[in-house]
Amino acid sequence: MKQTLKNMNITNKRVLLRCDFNVPIKNGNVLDETKIIKSIDTIKFLLDHNCKIIIMSHLGRIKTKEDKLTNSLEPVQKVLANLLNTPVKFAKDILSPETKTMALNLQPKEILLLENTRFLDVPNKLESTLNEETAQKLAELGEVFVLDAFASAHRAHTSVVGIPKYLPSCIGFLFAQELDMLNNYVLNPNHPFTVIMGGAKVDDKLSIIKSLLPKCDNLLVSGGIANSFLAALGLNTGASLKTENADIIKELKTLMFEYKTKFAFPLDAIVETTYEHTPNLKAINAIETNDVIKDIGAKTIAKYSSIINSSATVFINGPMGIYEETAYKNGTIEILNTLKNTKADVVIGGGDTISALNKLGFTNAFANISSGGGATLEYIANGTLPGLEAISEEDNIEILDL
Ligand code: 3PG
Repeated sequence: MKQTLKNMNITNKRVLLRCDFNVPIKNGNVLDETKIIKSIDTIKFLLDHNCKIIIMSHLGRIKTKEDKLTNSLEPVQKVLANLLNTPVKFAKDILSPETKTMALNLQPKEILLLENTRFLDVPNKLESTLNEETAQKLAELGEVFVLDAFASAHRAHTSVVGIPKYLPSCIGFLFAQELDMLNNYVLNPNHPFTVIMGGAKVDDKLSIIKSLLPKCDNLLVSGGIANSFLAALGLNTGASLKTENADIIKELKTLMFEYKTKFAFPLDAIVETTYEHTPNLKAINAIETNDVIKDIGAKTIAKYSSIINSSATVFINGPMGIYEETAYKNGTIEILNTLKNTKADVVIGGGDTISALNKLGFTNAFANISSGGGATLEYIANGTLPGLEAISEEDNIEILDL
């Protein structure tokens, strides 16, 4: 068992907390606070134990100096202060002596948020390439390390995996909840267990499909993933999005042969042609060369809903169609409605699916929503994550003197 916050000696300590505050921000405003809200339990627990809290997170992808202009974590400072009803200090230059002084001078129940850890990547990739010297400098800011950034734990980055070598470390409440949820419902599900995989690229999701096929009873596919399988079966999918990779097509064929009773494919689709943007309902075997599949049709919705309703557990990753466009959002809405009303335990995973929930009015409809995108999929596929591997086992805590 990994060390968890409840067992740690944290009272009055300086706690270095890695969160995932990778939230959408526009014109200095946080557009979706979900990830910040999910960290609040951990932060409140630390406040209740008189900790001095130093919080780190990445935001966006930082490749150039210009990327820094639009990816400051400063807007998160305001949201955090509002949610906690307490002031939050902000340190702009993570590795500077001033930041270290701010951290060392924190009083119990004070919070310091550090600037985006990925700013350390320009110019020397000190965050995204695990850098020991930087990890040690970050560790000097705290006395205990808490990793609550489940959604970042698939990244072997300095602020995620580098620090536990230098500080007693544990996972936070959000991280522990995510593991419980995925372990209980996805890795050890009640059967019949149905997996719904949607989204654009089968290439990105092949490893999770391969890991879930032996465990699930049904695999329902949609989007570019479905098109790729259908094309591998030899059906005409017209000009629809699908993989062109010959090795992957071969693997899809093998999977369909090996697990043929588990697959459910779309029966019909809402298509538009490459020359006319009018939605049209077509049977899957009537798709023509210029058709582009953009959503599932009514027969597919009925078939998929009936499978969902005879399941004990359902894991969904990815929308059914191009839900961002009004004409092609119906399939995703209908399947989400079925999932909302089914008796099965439902787990929602992945960034795209959460965006779909929020955009289509299902924000509070589900209890089990994983905050991870890539991390959720990698955990399901591998049963562990680099961030989790870095955290000490309960009975094997190594504390180095700095
Ligand atoms: C996410 O949003 O999935 C996480 O914050 C990880 O972000 P990344 O893919 O930029 O590492």
